[in-house]
Amino acid sequence: MCGIVGYVGAKDCSEVLVSALSKLEYRGYDSAGIAVFEDGKIRIEKEKGRLLDLQKKMESDGVPKGNVGVGHTRWATHGVPSSVNSHPHRGGDKVTLVHNGIIENYKELKEQLIAQGRVFISETDTEVVAQLMDMNYEGDPEKAIAKTLAQVEGSFALGILFADRPEELYAVRRESPLIVGVAEGESFIASDVPAIIKYTTQYYLLEHDEIAKLTHEGVSFCDLEGNSIEKELKVADWDQEAAEKGGYEHYMLKEIHEQPTAVKTTLTPRISDGMPNLEECSITLDKLKDINQIYIVACGTAMHAGMVGKYVIEKQCKVPVIVDIASEFRYRDPLIKEGDLVIIISQSGETADSLAAMRLAKKMGAKTLAIVNAKGSSIAREADMLIYTHAGPEIAVASTKAYMVQISVMYLLAFELAFAKGEITKEECRRLTDILLGTSANIEKTIELVDGDCNTIAEALTEADSLLYIGRGLDYALSMEGSLKLKEISYIHSEAYAAGELKHGTISLITEGMPVIAVATQNALYDKTVSNIKEVKARGAKVILVCDEQAEVGADVADFIIRVPRIEEMLMPMLAAVPLQLLAYYASVRRGNDVDKPRNLAKSVTVE
Ligand code: F6R
Repeated sequence: MCGIVGYVGAKDCSEVLVSALSKLEYRGYDSAGIAVFEDGKIRIEKEKGRLLDLQKKMESDGVPKGNVGVGHTRWATHGVPSSVNSHPHRGGDKVTLVHNGIIENYKELKEQLIAQGRVFISETDTEVVAQLMDMNYEGDPEKAIAKTLAQVEGSFALGILFADRPEELYAVRRESPLIVGVAEGESFIASDVPAIIKYTTQYYLLEHDEIAKLTHEGVSFCDLEGNSIEKELKVADWDQEAAEKGGYEHYMLKEIHEQPTAVKTTLTPRISDGMPNLEECSITLDKLKDINQIYIVACGTAMHAGMVGKYVIEKQCKVPVIVDIASEFRYRDPLIKEGDLVIIISQSGETADSLAAMRLAKKMGAKTLAIVNAKGSSIAREADMLIYTHAGPEIAVASTKAYMVQISVMYLLAFELAFAKGEITKEECRRLTDILLGTSANIEKTIELVDGDCNTIAEALTEADSLLYIGRGLDYALSMEGSLKLKEISYIHSEAYAAGELKHGTISLITEGMPVIAVATQNALYDKTVSNIKEVKARGAKVILVCDEQAEVGADVADFIIRVPRIEEMLMPMLAAVPLQLLAYYASVRRGNDVDKPRNLAKSVTVE
């Protein structure tokens, strides 16, 4: 994972590159760098740390002046975060490049290159590509790129400058994403659309093993044999404002507040005459009727959305659902049969393990359905069926609005499947769909209702070393996400536990004052969860209870109560998710952490 950008045009190249990189820091922020043709020579500026650190360095070194260049923001894979391991990397005198992805056979290549007298200064796999490209370059960039790509294995996107071609920029990709943006008299490369949206909404999606050449005259594409390619120009529907903070202190808070709109925008086009209608996603009632087994495969938060889906689909549709972590699924010889449905959930659509799991499922004869937020991403392009979530760009590393739209789609799909299977009547399906659509307004109400309390209660979490989230059924599925959110941005250790499972070992962790966040929104399970709460309370836990506004809570049950509006029980996770997100957010703020860019993480995980 990393973000790469490039520019050819009349503007100050350094300024464009830094601005574009600032929108890609979610992909990694261990170091940043740029390379710009200045007076016909490539000048590199790079620095360990955030983009801000690079900017500070350039303030003292002087900013490179030129019109053609590349830039990079890194999430370290090979070699520690350091200045020398930062990109861009020189391959020798002839080539300078930036790279996103992993070169799997870099060790063998490095040994061969060293045997041929090449000297390496960094620990990166990227320098190996740069050196190889340098060896292969004999004045024809496309040929050098093609020859290099024949030798390297792995996933990568590259932005390449050839020292003797100061007016040109080249790009190529295999697996890792890359787009080529165009505007009047200028062109761009970027790992993702938000990076260039300030300059243009028009872009091309570069396909595997396609080479892009960017010059002041325009952009051209060819394959590895040198045959020119005509490509379709796309127009991004994300505007600049959507990719900026819009007055909020952090992207995460902004994105929490965008959830009502995101849910509405995702669901509305998929509802006609009050019924779910996923025909534009190639999902028909006939297709759904034949499904007897579903796998939901994803990573992290997206996998937690799948957990909610499992509870809802099994209950409503009577179809068994297995939820799998993508990195486990792909290596555990899953027992997929022809005709099974494999649902891949991904915000970025580029998560390496999820993509590989989807390819495996396809190979094994399953039908694949992708639920993806990033338009034109690899998972979106390769799935048999596709439901785009319309959350808009999610910049904060901790996912909130993407999760919310993912679960909204899980519900919609479950209702349509239940109707297709004859498990619910049309009237019931309409009724549930209507309530689902209404969650948009209820999420808004919930944010207003709980924001202040969450801010105050977060104080009780900030000094904790560790805490537990407990719940049963859908509340347990939601607790997993609440726990992940807290640990990833507040760095407080936490575990989500099925409330009834605590007494089989984990309850021994409870000590005086340990916070336990209990989620109890499911009527049928409420009393049972309360019994479990009392068990931890009796052992000294400080209980924060998330329940609905009508729940009768005894005086001895909780230290803090967060109440959310009451709606259809099954849909309660869509509201109860909000306080869990806000608790994590405020705990992180109170601990002085970098909320949007938590340590060691990156937004888009394009490595296994
Ligand atoms: C956590 C988070 C991650 C992602 C996971 C999958 O807040 O964002 O756990 O959910 O890395 O990413 P996508 O959805 O892009 O496949």
